[in-house]
Amino acid sequence: MKTIFSGIQPSGTITLGNYIGAMKQFVELQDEYNCFFCIVDQHAITVPQDPVSLRQNIRSLAALYLAIGINPEKATLFIQSEVPAHAQAGWIMQCIAYIGELERMTQFKDKSQGKEAVSASLLTYPPLMAADILLYHTDLVPVGEDQKQHMELTRDLAERFNKKYGEVFTIPDIRLPKAGARIMSLQEPTKKMSKSDPNKKSVITPLDEPKQIEKKIKSAVTDSEGIVKFDVANKPGISNLLSIYSVLSNKSIQELEEMYQGKGYGAFKSDLAEVVIHEFKPIQEKYYHLMESSELDDILNRGAEKANQVASSTLKEMEHAMGLGRSRK
Ligand code: AQP
Repeated sequence: MKTIFSGIQPSGTITLGNYIGAMKQFVELQDEYNCFFCIVDQHAITVPQDPVSLRQNIRSLAALYLAIGINPEKATLFIQSEVPAHAQAGWIMQCIAYIGELERMTQFKDKSQGKEAVSASLLTYPPLMAADILLYHTDLVPVGEDQKQHMELTRDLAERFNKKYGEVFTIPDIRLPKAGARIMSLQEPTKKMSKSDPNKKSVITPLDEPKQIEKKIKSAVTDSEGIVKFDVANKPGISNLLSIYSVLSNKSIQELEEMYQGKGYGAFKSDLAEVVIHEFKPIQEKYYHLMESSELDDILNRGAEKANQVASSTLKEMEHAMGLGRSRK
């Protein structure tokens, strides 16, 4: 069985973007692959986090993974900071990476732009991400399009390491979803939907109440034409809503364009709200049940144990190859 690794930051409640771009695919993949799903809390602290909210978000994300259908008997679900090999291997990968290539990462540019104080870790986030992935000899990483550049860097770092120290790492491939790889903000449809967006009207989360979902979709920015047509360059708002509708309903964009010909945005938005509410209803039911059960901690304990075994063994191989410590293999 090939191995999959994917991480999501507990930097807020996950969005419809995280759900479509990453999580929705996980459920299908767990039957065919050896999957490691990681709550990357060490990535979340690259920008300031309130400790109480962070701890709450970690638990909530774990419950959401299970609520969407991740089966802990098939996949390993764990928290990054509970597996020390991540930080250790992250340091090693920082030593392999060059400052110039890290400064070229668009996520670093976006997140540091206009900030007076930027943490060093915001720059060194991609080598930690590379370590996360490489520790599990990962073959495939299912992510949204925003992570493509970091994935290319991960491959470069792995190849650089292997060339210098011997074939320790598997070179991972990226797996983008067929549709919905980049879901955009509802209020600024040229910007990606992000959990840390301070404008909550821009973002739908799987935990939003039906009324909130309806309200957010109804107030989503579109254009004054009133024609439901996919045209990202000229109609980014309606194109984004069409992508969401298409992924969640399994109808093609063309089918949807035909369905709403001459009907205007009102009818389209009401139906889309129904589709989103329907998608999240069973997830919410399972989520609230899990948040109150002790099952969640048991699953995370087992996940940390399994991840620790695999990751510490790869870390030993890395250290041995580089001549660190007494490095007994
Ligand atoms: N808008 C999006 N459309 C499609 N996929 C997306 N992903 C994120 N936003 C979208 C995918 O979700 C996974 C988890 O992402 P992450 O939490 O590791 O970090 P991120 O990409 O930085 O996500 P956010 O929501 O934008 O978080 P913040 O606001 O904290 O930076 C990844 O697979 C990502 O591709």
